[in-house]
Amino acid sequence: MLVALSCIGVAAVGCNGAPADLREWRASDHGQEPGALDPDPATPADPVSNARALWAVHCVGCHGREGRGDGAMATMRPPDMTSEAFQQSHSDVQIRTSIVAGKGGAMPSFGAVLRPEAVAQLTALIRAMGAH
Ligand code: HEC
Repeated sequence: MLVALSCIGVAAVGCNGAPADLREWRASDHGQEPGALDPDPATPADPVSNARALWAVHCVGCHGREGRGDGAMATMRPPDMTSEAFQQSHSDVQIRTSIVAGKGGAMPSFGAVLRPEAVAQLTALIRAMGAH
């Protein structure tokens, strides 16, 4: 995402009559490996750590680090995903659907934010939370 925004920035400069020899922006210009700050599922070294990065950005505030529903915004009453009751009453399809479409007004929809691969990785992470 950061990389994408930076590229848009360079493109905008180009439109404003920048010199023709203006070279492409490179990730190394910012001292970053491509994707170093970006939990983008297109380049995951490891789906589990990718899912954890996504969780830390998008979900931890309400659901808590381990999915116990004890995040800083726990007053919204997210479920305890580590519980057997949650795991048994939720199919993978239902988990995916709720991530994409949201649920009950308090659970936001992430369909416009997360790619299908990311939703699948988060679903697997939520499943793994039940094993603890
Ligand atoms: C603003 C707070 C908030 C954020 C951020 C949030 N959730 Fe939720 N989530 C909730 C609440 C509250 C519920 C309970 C909704 C209900 O049952 O009515 C919930 C429920 C769920 C459920 C169970 C839905 C069901 O079918 O019962 C899943 C799965 C889920 N969240 C996944 C996620 C994932 C993955 C993220 C991050 C991408 C996330 N949530 C981010 C508040 C949040």
